[in-house]
Amino acid sequence: MLVVGNWKLNTTQAEAVSLAADVARGVSDANSGVGVGICPPYVWLEAVVERTAGSPVRVGAQNVAAQDGGAYTGEVSAAMLAEVGCTYAIVGHSERRALFGDTDEVVAAKVSQALANGLTPIVCVGETLDERKAGRVEDVVTGQLAGSLAGVESLERIVVAYEPVWAIGTGETATPDQAQDVHATIRSWLRDRFGASAAQTPLLYGGSVKPANALELFRQPDVDGGLVGGASLDAESFVAIVHAAADAEG
Ligand code: 13P
Repeated sequence: MLVVGNWKLNTTQAEAVSLAADVARGVSDANSGVGVGICPPYVWLEAVVERTAGSPVRVGAQNVAAQDGGAYTGEVSAAMLAEVGCTYAIVGHSERRALFGDTDEVVAAKVSQALANGLTPIVCVGETLDERKAGRVEDVVTGQLAGSLAGVESLERIVVAYEPVWAIGTGETATPDQAQDVHATIRSWLRDRFGASAAQTPLLYGGSVKPANALELFRQPDVDGGLVGGASLDAESFVAIVHAAADAEG
């Protein structure tokens, strides 16, 4: 089980450090076997890495450059993220795909950069409401997987997050059955492409995960944790979600 918080474009430095400290304290006793990650804005990464040192909490970035260096104003490379102490990089989040032009091709380049620099990419896929209504969930999700993982040779250090766009920040969660259906599709696509190691790939669900719905989602056989937005900004809620993952595992 793995639970990762995506803080998005939120927190002052003081808030980030205090949230990180509260999360580290909250999960240090009871997260038996559950991996925990938090992804603050780039500029707070160093402070958050420092504040969580010695705790089970790992730190990730919300994005990474598709290039390894050079004249790319405003970008932050995977090597820089690794140097500052990141473990994870979220790649291909639907907000990046919809608002910042991250195509599957760009996502694939970011995944390759992350892997080449020792980071674990959390590769996000998910359909819009219109795509779901049109019965295109499987097409869209497997298409995104094929494109985003085009340069990947093995599943070692790959995490996939299924985040239905209609469930992000809307308070509307996929039902446990809906999540399981898509996760099973993802697992079987990964098995076809990469073989039996797909059984070990963490498949996270994201989209309005809260303490109240986390346990039921995490109990699904192909749901191996969560990528949490809004609820990760509140230490108590996030820690409760980590505890739900521990309960689902036990
Ligand atoms: P919410 O949990 O706020 O719906 O956000 C989900 C998400 O986008 C995590 O990456």
